[in-house]
Amino acid sequence: MAKEINTIGVLTSGGDAPGMNAALRAVVRAGLHYGKRMIGIYNGYKGLLENDMKELTYRDVSGIINRGGTVLKTARCKEFLTAEGIQKAADNARAFGIDALVILGGDGSFRGALELSKRGFPVIGIPCTIDNDIGCSDYTIGFDTALNTACEAIDKIRDTCSSHDRCSVVEVMGRHSGYLAVNVAVATGAEVCLIPEKKFDLSDIMDKIKETTQKGKTHFIVVVAEGVGGIEFIAENVEKQTGVETRPSDLGYIQRGGAPTVKDRVIASKMGLKAIQLLIDGVADRVVVYKKADIVDYDIVEALATKKEFDNPLVELADILTY
Ligand code: F6P
Repeated sequence: MAKEINTIGVLTSGGDAPGMNAALRAVVRAGLHYGKRMIGIYNGYKGLLENDMKELTYRDVSGIINRGGTVLKTARCKEFLTAEGIQKAADNARAFGIDALVILGGDGSFRGALELSKRGFPVIGIPCTIDNDIGCSDYTIGFDTALNTACEAIDKIRDTCSSHDRCSVVEVMGRHSGYLAVNVAVATGAEVCLIPEKKFDLSDIMDKIKETTQKGKTHFIVVVAEGVGGIEFIAENVEKQTGVETRPSDLGYIQRGGAPTVKDRVIASKMGLKAIQLLIDGVADRVVVYKKADIVDYDIVEALATKKEFDNPLVELADILTY
């Protein structure tokens, strides 16, 4: 007979993402709705190690659905990667009266959750990362907001490019994945998109710029995923080899902040409720996922083993439509 769950801890871990607060609000409000005691754990897993935890009330999650970032704060925690650290976190959670945990974050955060499940805690993961690179879910909280932020920024860059007949080489986030980059490239009509999943040669860029110049284009956007990098080197070579004045721009951390879009708020709210309902129904060690526009759940081990096929048609679309 599974242990009765009366107290549920919740934490945000890894890179923050717009919509994390909306998911947190839903987890806390749903837990309180079902009569559970809700504990906020600060700074990700570090909060468990340092006993930085606090009981949360309805009011503690007021006015946050529309705020980027996470009011619980987040951190990457090296100590938690050790067996001793994990055991200490589990012991502290138990001493605080926590019976189960909801973890908001990415794959790395879910690996930590799995370790705690092995030490007797029912865990539920909620996918939050602007990279949308969690294999088991079609969508991760924060992706739509980051897309719109990057799109708005590149639209502004295109204004000045068109005034000066320039090329801009723009880096968007995505240390290991090109989802953000390729979607932003399609949405902004970028002439070239470089992603870590697809090998490229500098000549590919030059050819596209020369071909589209012959079709009358006078300004250009090259979107580069962070996992490819080298925007200064690329910009220098584009200018040298094509004669088009070229500037690098790194969008950086603006993509991680900002008020979450409606899509992120609604999906986050649905996922937060689902996480609590799973625990109430005695279901544990799952990841709440977005699959074919539905909110379902995957076994956490299966979720971590699932790799996402890269969306090739989008790469082709980005190329075809920008001649
Ligand atoms: O995981 C999301 C993400 O924003 C990546 O796109 C980016 O490469 C990374 O986090 C940056 O991590 P940090 O905030 O630790 O620099």
